[in-house]
Amino acid sequence: MSSIGENGADFLVVANRLPVDLERLPDGTQRWKHSPGGLVTALEPFLRTHSGAWVGWPGIADAEVDAFEEDGLQLHPVALSASEVADYYEGFSNGTLWPLYHDVVAPPAFHRRWWNAYVRVNQRFADVTAKVAAQGATVWVQDYQLQLVPAMLRELRPDLRIGFFLHIPFPPVELFMQLPWRTEIIRGLLGADLVGFHRPGGAQNFLWLARRLVGLEPSRGAVGVRTRPGVVQVGDRTVRVGAFPISIDSAGLDALARDKEVQKHAKQIREDLGNPKKILLGVDRLDYTKGIDVRLRALHELLADGRVNPGEVTMVQLATPSRERVEHYKQMRGEIEQAVGRINGEFSTVGHPVVHYLHQSVNRRELTAFMTAADVMVVTPVRDGMNLVCKEYVATRYDLGGALVLSEFAGAAAELTSAFLVNPHDLDGVKNALEAALTLDPAEGRRRMRALRRQVLTHDVDRWARSFLDALGTQSTI
Ligand code: ADP
Ligand code: F6P
Repeated sequence: MSSIGENGADFLVVANRLPVDLERLPDGTQRWKHSPGGLVTALEPFLRTHSGAWVGWPGIADAEVDAFEEDGLQLHPVALSASEVADYYEGFSNGTLWPLYHDVVAPPAFHRRWWNAYVRVNQRFADVTAKVAAQGATVWVQDYQLQLVPAMLRELRPDLRIGFFLHIPFPPVELFMQLPWRTEIIRGLLGADLVGFHRPGGAQNFLWLARRLVGLEPSRGAVGVRTRPGVVQVGDRTVRVGAFPISIDSAGLDALARDKEVQKHAKQIREDLGNPKKILLGVDRLDYTKGIDVRLRALHELLADGRVNPGEVTMVQLATPSRERVEHYKQMRGEIEQAVGRINGEFSTVGHPVVHYLHQSVNRRELTAFMTAADVMVVTPVRDGMNLVCKEYVATRYDLGGALVLSEFAGAAAELTSAFLVNPHDLDGVKNALEAALTLDPAEGRRRMRALRRQVLTHDVDRWARSFLDALGTQSTI
């Protein structure tokens, strides 16, 4: 086990957000709440069982908070001003990189002011980390918001072992080449000893760009167990590049789903919904990449075609509020709420809406109860690095019940091949898959779910983290 002594932490995660977000309440008090998103879902259980430190933003502007300990984890807040939140987080991270890395499904905007803030804030994360890391520590930098940190940190602390993992897709080279600061990003990432992606395609794109933009020769070589081999030589330093598909705390969710109280709650949910024959469920951050509109459109047409009976089928869509000040998100929220309104306006009866839409986050137990109650989980992103929701659904279905409709464009599709895989751009295909899942023969459903569970229960987040840290060459010290 690593420790945090006077000399600093031996193992640190550096991520845009801390695992907890500071919330200011209307009465002027503040409290910490669980942070949204897959990164925290995945990393938190691992970090909680390995003492370490987490460097991140507390989630609101101008929050000057001292380092503190929470449940055995040292949290080191990095403060951002309101203009940095606007330019670095909402701007460059979520107005430039997010759409660019997700197949430009929305047009990315390129602004020098945003880029300058990104550089400044990345430097701050590197400075804080350099101060709190022990001599020779392992630092694991996370995600697209912090791609310059590896090189900045190496400059400050060459003694550190630095890993970087990207939680979203790494784009095709033609798209990445649009970025005016493309070379700086690649140089930033090459500061790491190991750069990890969800999919081998991302690793290959990165290797190609390293050669093309930084003039380095990627050479094939061994990376370690369960990775696609790839190496970039940077002077006398070797940067390894590989694919490490992330996962969830599968056993923890499986156990939670077996909890009697959770099962009772699942029954209650079904009752509260009016005991429909079938429940469809969507669970996402309210993000335009998640294809919430796709599933609503498919349901609308199935109802209009008479292929789905509104008296028998109910859909629940849980949507966590996300990046609410970013323009694309505002616009998409309006469109989705309109689509829900249209379906309910045309097909509901008094007291029995067809779609239940909650623009809210629910806690882990409640989420597990919703998943237990759902007959069909609908996951239809137009692009997603991995998507943990589909793995969570599978982990909760110890009863081998339920069916999963999953987009081919989620990283998870490569592993969850027994799902009903759909192309979210093919509306007829999505409709057919929904109908097939709603009318699935129970024996066939159990066969599919058994295969899905075999994958998810054996490939959990602990295995993911260990394989990354093994490849980084530090597992034994953590
Ligand atoms: P992303 O990281 O893009 O948000 P993922 O699917 O990888 O997408 O991870 C999302 C995480 O957030 C999952 O753990 C999921 O259960 C959780 N989540 C999403 N929406 C909600 C919600 N409305 N309430 C509670 N948890 C949610
Ligand atoms: O993995 C995608 C990701 O952006 C994570 O970095 C982040 O934790 C999560 O989605 C939620 O996004 P945000 O931190 O912008 O609310």
